Amino acid sequence: KDFIIIAVDGGAAAGKSSTSRALSSKFDLMHVDTGSFYRATTVKLLEAGVAPEAGPAMDAALAKLELGTYIDENSAYIVVNDWIPDESIRSEEVNANVSQYAAIPELRKFLFDYQRDQANIAREEGFAGLIMEGRDIGSVIFPDADLRLYLYADPAKRAARRAAEGLSDSIEKRDQMDSSRKTAPLSIPEGATLVDSSEMTLEEVVEHVSDLVSKAY
Ligand code: C5P
Repeated sequence: KDFIIIAVDGGAAAGKSSTSRALSSKFDLMHVDTGSFYRATTVKLLEAGVAPEAGPAMDAALAKLELGTYIDENSAYIVVNDWIPDESIRSEEVNANVSQYAAIPELRKFLFDYQRDQANIAREEGFAGLIMEGRDIGSVIFPDADLRLYLYADPAKRAARRAAEGLSDSIEKRDQMDSSRKTAPLSIPEGATLVDSSEMTLEEVVEHVSDLVSKAY
């Protein structure tokens, strides 16, 4: 194949970003972290004082958001009204609010085409493919992906990873909210490959998944 799409889903701190980034440089794929899209829009909606509920206020606030993309090395990043999201999208306030906003169908719909369009951008930019991480990539955004992975790591392992980052993050609470919402809940998509990284180093995960990527071509 001259272009492949890889979907990487899983809970918070399951190792999606490090794995996806490593694969993106190894296979020259454009890397996209859709969690950052929900985080960046959460910052903007909090700023606008819009509550995480569907309704005219949410529609009006979303209508004011214009999305762009910029590419740095192998990753594509969201731009919202000319704002390039920084580390503030990983603050404790955003950690505590993002899952409530991500449960709103209007917000998910708002980001749908933008996410699908990343495949066109990756093609135009001459990448060999796209690797996109999130919660509903293999189930909703790219159910037609060439490879769909579901990364799992046991809770103790994930808590240790977040603690090492020095941030408090209610990962189990977010997972609980993300898995139980009505629209596009976090789940293992049918036909996806489960990778349990609990007992693996990052290098081992990347090696294992690289075999799967090679077979996806
Ligand atoms: O991946 P990350 O932990 O940064 O994602 C932040 C939040 O964004 C998740 O907890 C989830 O609520 C939301 N999200 C989502 N769908 C995606 C990616 C992220 O609902 N595809």
